[in-house]
Amino acid sequence: MNYRNTKNGYGLVARVLHWGMALAIFGMFALGYWMMTLTYVSPYYKSAPDLHRSIGLVLLALLLFRFVWKLFNKAPDTSDLTPLEHKGSSLLHWGFYALLLTVMIVGYFISTLDGRSISVFGLFDVPSVYTQKGMEKLAGKLHWILAYLTIALAALHAGAALWHHFIKKDNVLKRMLKDQT
Ligand code: HEM
Ligand code: HEM
Repeated sequence: MNYRNTKNGYGLVARVLHWGMALAIFGMFALGYWMMTLTYVSPYYKSAPDLHRSIGLVLLALLLFRFVWKLFNKAPDTSDLTPLEHKGSSLLHWGFYALLLTVMIVGYFISTLDGRSISVFGLFDVPSVYTQKGMEKLAGKLHWILAYLTIALAALHAGAALWHHFIKKDNVLKRMLKDQT
């Protein structure tokens, strides 16, 4: 079992982070979308955003760890990709990190621009670092746009992965699914 990436494929750590976070991000989109439809008579009116914020901050910590892990691991060999595929996928992968970081930071600001802190699963508080009352609405709009963009990019990315697997029949999806020898 390889924990680290090898030249043939992604290691266990990168694979667990990739699939775990992908699932969580789709779940966060659904949760965010659903919680915005709740009215104050719903029993989830307060708990759903609390959960969304708590998971969001855990995902932010995981993203930072994943970024450092990526920097200290070699990328699997991509000689089976054309130069255009290589450039495109690498741009999209780094773009994902930047986009996710921005979605999460903007989400943090929606919740803290009024000076309140975020309680993470009731275990500890993450304080507000910048107060600018009235900006929450704008941050909310931006968060919404960036969340949609993330899901659109993920759909494009998943489509590309499935195309590699079923049409081009190469190793691109396999090296993110299991140990490659
Ligand atoms: C993977 C990351 C995330 C995704 C995909 C995501 C997705 C969403 C979506 C789809 C909405 C509904 C927007 C709407 O319909 O207007 C939403 C709202 C919201 N999200 Fe996130 N979110 C993420 C991370 C975060 C984080 C890290 C926080 C805070 C720490 C956060 C705080 C909020 C808040 C407070 C709202 C309510 C927006 C408002 O009041 O306008 N989100 N999110
Ligand atoms: C929100 C969802 C997703 C995000 C944010 C995401 C993000 C990423 C990132 C950043 C990488 C580069 C490797 C790394 O740094 O870990 C990657 C690689 C990969 N992803 Fe995703 N991914 C998502 C969903 C999916 C889905 C649904 C599939 C397949 C159906 C998929 C298939 C792959 C494959 C095959 C690779 C390896 C590509 C290569 O080696 O060139 N991903 N993904």
